[in-house]
Amino acid sequence: MDAADVAVSPEAGSLVAADARALGMTLSLDELDARGEAIGRALTAPALVTLTGDLGAGKTTMAQAICRGLGVTEPVTSPTFALIHEYAALAVRVVHCDLYRLDSARAVASLGLDDMFSDSSAIVLVEWPERAGAMLPIASLALTLEHIAAQPDARRCTEVWGC
Ligand SMILES: Nc1ncnc2c1ncn2[C@@H]1O[C@H](COP(=O)(O)OP(=O)(O)OP(=O)(O)O)[C@@H](O)[C@H]1O
Ligand SMILES: [Mg+2]
Repeated sequence: MDAADVAVSPEAGSLVAADARALGMTLSLDELDARGEAIGRALTAPALVTLTGDLGAGKTTMAQAICRGLGVTEPVTSPTFALIHEYAALAVRVVHCDLYRLDSARAVASLGLDDMFSDSSAIVLVEWPERAGAMLPIASLALTLEHIAAQPDARRCTEVWGC
């Protein structure tokens, strides 16, 4: 893993805290799986994890790894059509959302995200958080995944942890 602290200052109005800490790394698929599992083991409820990146960037793959780290034992599949899937893990409720197909703020409101964010036992993973605009609270962890042109099987992963 090529990990290095990067000086990323979250922009004003972004989904992350102003005093957040950022970490950037280039990950193979196996490394991304391992990193996601470690993140899952480190998370405590309540938490919001946003997963940002283009189509195929690895958001669902990362969410699956985080779920494994949280102790989810059932198969975690992409909620592209259902929008929300829920899983039970030891003492936490894991909610995995994919907002790609949402096209309005009203549609976001109808998902009942507020209930999830007020549940102190919930860990909420959100793909395509930008679709929700300002309706999401500040993330505990904002993850960004990017393709790397010269390395089709690697991804640039940036983690911004709220403080
Ligand atoms: N280093 C890597 N990290 C993550 N995924 C990788 C990596 N290398 C190859 N892949 C592959 O890229 C694909 C990523 O698909 P995934 O569904 O996770 O993307 P996504 O960001 O959720 O896409 P979508 O926006 O369509 O939901 C998978 O087939 C995965 O095996
Ligand atoms: Mg996905």
